[in-house]
Amino acid sequence: MDTPTIKSFKLRGTRITAAQEVAREQLWDKYGIDFGAERFHFDSLFPNAMEIFIEIGFGMGEATIDIAKKFPQRGFLAVDVHQPGIGKLLASIEESELSNVRVMDEDAHVVLMAMIPDESLDGIHLFFPDPWPKTRHHKRRIVNEGFIELIHSKLKIGGTFHVATDWHPYSEWIEERFSNSPLFIGGEVERPDWRPITRFEGQGIRKKHRVTDLIYRKV
Ligand SMILES: C[S@@+](CC[C@H](N)C(=O)[O-])C[C@H]1O[C@@H](n2cnc3c(N)ncnc32)[C@H](O)[C@@H]1O
Repeated sequence: MDTPTIKSFKLRGTRITAAQEVAREQLWDKYGIDFGAERFHFDSLFPNAMEIFIEIGFGMGEATIDIAKKFPQRGFLAVDVHQPGIGKLLASIEESELSNVRVMDEDAHVVLMAMIPDESLDGIHLFFPDPWPKTRHHKRRIVNEGFIELIHSKLKIGGTFHVATDWHPYSEWIEERFSNSPLFIGGEVERPDWRPITRFEGQGIRKKHRVTDLIYRKV
């Protein structure tokens, strides 16, 4: 299985506003989870949740908040390393008074490997992963054979991996890798009406990029 020595993220716009920094200082203890070697007990982390989802790369957390409001019976573990987004998401959770979102500041590979128990997740959201369009950067794409094996081990049987991208060659890349894998069934779906358009997706749409939603179910 691939190790996370190759980073799938680039450090973008790390300038954090005063409000995001205050949120980080004041709200981390309430909603943030520090990385640790212990595996989660989701029953105690989300005592009221019927299902557990992880969102990889939440960006500014717009979709996270919107979806968490729509599915209050689901617990969402939101993982990213983007500092302004972490501050913003913490502030938005507080403002929306949500009790079903917790935040981690870490590479999702590391979190999945070290902290997520096997067969514990009902779903994984990966919305608009960095597309790494240049051929020499393809090795940085988060979806690869090792990632497919890793998420397979963490999902319950019947659990789903939902990825959306506005970079068509990346959607083809993902489809190719999943079609070569016996671990999942699925493929392209209509955009679900509950998935909101984030600012990042809006930029792609304005550039006339075609957006693809793909959902794969663990068999
Ligand atoms: C292009 S942005 C999309 C953000 C958001 N999902 C949206 O739709 O607006 C990709 C995000 O994924 C994060 N990311 C990339 N690789 C990651 C990893 N291995 N672990 C956690 N976050 C990652 C980046 O930091 C960035 O915030």
